[in-house]
Amino acid sequence: MKFLVTLIISTLLGVGVYKHSEPKIIFEAEDDYVTDVLLALGENYDDIMPNFNIANVSVQAGETLVKDGFAQKENGGKGKRQSKHFVCTSCHNLQIEDPDLTVSSPEARLSYVSEKGLPFLQGTTLYGAINRTSFYNGDYYKKYGELVETARHDIRNAIQLCATECAQGRALEPWEMESIMAYFWDIGFRMSDLDLNEKERERIKNASSDEEKLYARELIKSKYLSGSPATFVPPPADRNVGTGLSGNYESGKKIYELSCLHCHLQERYSFFDLEKNNMSVDFLRNKMATYSSYSIYQVIRWGVPSYSGRTSYMPQYPLEKLSDQQLADLREFLEKGY
Ligand code: HEC
Ligand code: HEC
Repeated sequence: MKFLVTLIISTLLGVGVYKHSEPKIIFEAEDDYVTDVLLALGENYDDIMPNFNIANVSVQAGETLVKDGFAQKENGGKGKRQSKHFVCTSCHNLQIEDPDLTVSSPEARLSYVSEKGLPFLQGTTLYGAINRTSFYNGDYYKKYGELVETARHDIRNAIQLCATECAQGRALEPWEMESIMAYFWDIGFRMSDLDLNEKERERIKNASSDEEKLYARELIKSKYLSGSPATFVPPPADRNVGTGLSGNYESGKKIYELSCLHCHLQERYSFFDLEKNNMSVDFLRNKMATYSSYSIYQVIRWGVPSYSGRTSYMPQYPLEKLSDQQLADLREFLEKGY
């Protein structure tokens, strides 16, 4: 049975995603995909299998779409740019960004990404997105309303919503969507990413009855979040006082450099330029306590809408992506400068 499943899956997936040539033994190697192990344990993934029967679908095409905003067809032709302003990596990492996959802590994430040389962003990493079952969680319904309903439990709809609403671009064509799905499978969690102890590993490896397999599946799923939480809060009531918390300079500097500058350095993904110097820092400090669209409180908590004629906009940060403590940290950095 296991072999049959494996055979069907390998045919469905084609080359490039998995090496399914051998009958699958549950959890052989540390770099086994979590999806693979769950499949071997009886999980049903029919809904999220990429469809390789559509022409031009490939992991490679998905990867270039996500990173560069357009994809190459097999005959060498280039797909159209997906968005004028953004690529997916403007707002999402493609690597693990949380040291503990069961907790969404912006403080822990900031230290982690800064060690790894990654940016600190409003969107959740797309690494392991294929392992999640719930999208645009928490307060995102406040922003996108009904659009969220169809995306909440459907990863393809979540991707499409993001392509058109977050990235403000055109809708993805079927071959592009399936390529992104194939790429998402490719950047799914590996068993080595999960914090499993030796006893737990053995239980997963030796699961044979239906009950044991179910237990093993639940155990695996308990090692990462099934969805990324999001809580929107308004800016502090009095912007002169700010959050009232005392800030940490080093953390504030990291936020400025790993988050703000990711999009604003030399107008990379926006029309507003920020530099790694005190001119930019002074500018933001002077606007901080105001109600202008340049106040950090304003833009971080409400985001920045697109201006007429432009489709770029700045996504707001939920508490899980930038806490009130971190808002205080950023203020501390802006007050001291470089
Ligand atoms: C301008 C910023 C921005 C761009 C560009 C962008 N996204 Fe997003 N995306 C977000 C935000 C913010 C969310 C909200 C939920 C989250 O990620 O925590 C989101 C959510 C998602 C989700 C659901 C994640 C979850 O766990 O809730 C997926 C999947 C996704 N985006 C894929 C993409 C893809 C694929 C692209 C490129 C075609 C893209 N995004 C481009 C900002 C962006
Ligand atoms: C994902 C990309 C992204 C990140 C990260 C980001 N911004 Fe923005 N920001 C934008 C875009 C896009 C706009 C919209 C206007 C534009 O295109 O210039 C904008 C607008 C702004 C504006 C208003 C500019 C105006 O012309 O009204 C300010 C101020 C600002 N951002 C500051 C920040 C700060 C401070 C941070 C870090 C905490 C930050 N941004 C992080 C993309 C980003």
